[in-house]
Amino acid sequence: MVREVNQGRNNNLKVAIIGSNGQLGTDLIVTAPLDVEIISVPRSALELTDIDQIENFFDSNDFSWVINAAAFHKTLECEKRVEKTFNVNAFSVKKMAELCRGKMINFFQISTDYVFGPNQAKRPFVETDPVNPLNVYGASKASAEFFLNYILPDNHYIGRISSLFGKAGSSGKGTNFVYTMLQKAEDNAEIKVIDDIFMSPTYTIDAGKLIWEIIQDHKKNGIYHLSNSGGCSWYTFTKEILKQAGFKDVKITPISKETFGSNVVRPSYTVLGTNHNLNRSHWKDGLNDFLAEIQY
Ligand SMILES: NC(=O)c1ccc[n+]([C@@H]2O[C@H](COP(=O)([O-])OP(=O)(O)OC[C@H]3O[C@@H](n4cnc5c(N)ncnc54)[C@H](OP(=O)(O)O)[C@@H]3O)[C@@H](O)[C@H]2O)c1
Repeated sequence: MVREVNQGRNNNLKVAIIGSNGQLGTDLIVTAPLDVEIISVPRSALELTDIDQIENFFDSNDFSWVINAAAFHKTLECEKRVEKTFNVNAFSVKKMAELCRGKMINFFQISTDYVFGPNQAKRPFVETDPVNPLNVYGASKASAEFFLNYILPDNHYIGRISSLFGKAGSSGKGTNFVYTMLQKAEDNAEIKVIDDIFMSPTYTIDAGKLIWEIIQDHKKNGIYHLSNSGGCSWYTFTKEILKQAGFKDVKITPISKETFGSNVVRPSYTVLGTNHNLNRSHWKDGLNDFLAEIQY
C-alpha cells in the first residue's frame, strides 16, 4: 500500500520517492518543501525486481516526478549476486524510465561516486569525467545512468553522492560509518581505519536539500555531484568524528586498504567536485549538523 504524506499541501508538485524508508529517502521527506505532495514508496509498496509491480505502480498513481533513492548496495553481496544487483539497480530504472517517457514524468536518480574508477589526476571528479566502475555495484549504477541518458534524455536528473550518513542509518547496511565509529569509541574498542581511500562524506539532510533545490528551481536536467564539498580519507574522517563528538583519548590507527583487506575492488580517490553553481556545505559542517541531530 502506498502511503501518502504531506496531504493538504499545495498540489503543485507531486513526487514519488522510491526507497523512502532508507537513509536518504527518510531525509528527502524531512527536507521536502511544504508545497510538495509526496508519495512515500517503501519496498513493501514496490519491489523493484518485479516488473509487473512497477507497471502497476505507474498505472495506479499520479505524479510528475520520481526520485529513486532505492538501491542494493552491499558491495560484497553485489559481487556475489550480480543478477540481483542489476535487477534492483539498473533494469528497474530502465523500466521506470520507459514508463516516465510515456507520461512526461521527470526522473531523479540517486547515483554514486562508485561509478568512477582510478583517478590519475588526483583531483575531485566532476560531472563531465567519464565513468569507469571497478565493481559490480558501481557497474549497475553506471548502467542505470546509461539507461536514463538513452531513454529519457530530456527528463532525467542524476544526483551522485558518496559515503552517506543520516539519522536513519542505512537500511541496507544496518548502520552508517559515523554511528559505527561512535559506538567503537564508546566501547573503547581499538579503531583501525583506512588512510589511503579518499571520498566526500555526505550528510543526507544536505543532499536532500540540494535535490529539492534542483527540482524547485527547474535547474537544467543532467548530472549533479551532490556530496558535501571537500574530501578526506576514512582515517581523517574518523579523527574528525571523534574530535567533534568530544572523544579525546581514543587511539585511532591509520592502515592501508591492503592491510584492511577486502574482496571488493574499490576506487581510491572519489572526492566529488562539481561544475555547477551549487551551494554545497563542507563535509565537516555536515558532520557537525549530524552530531547535533543525533543522540550519542
Ligand atoms: N549509503 C552510501 O554510503 C551511499 C553512497 C553513495 C551513493 N548511495 C546511493 O544513495 C541512495 C540511497 O542510499 P541509502 O544509504 O539511503 O540506502 P539505504 O538506507 O540502504 O536505503 C535503500 C532503500 O532501497 C530499498 N530497496 C532495496 N532493495 C529494494 C528492492 N529490491 N525493491 C525496492 N526497494 C528496495 C530499501 O528498502 P528496504 O529497507 O525495505 O530493504 C531502502 O528503502 C542509493 O541509490 C545508493 O546507491 C549511497
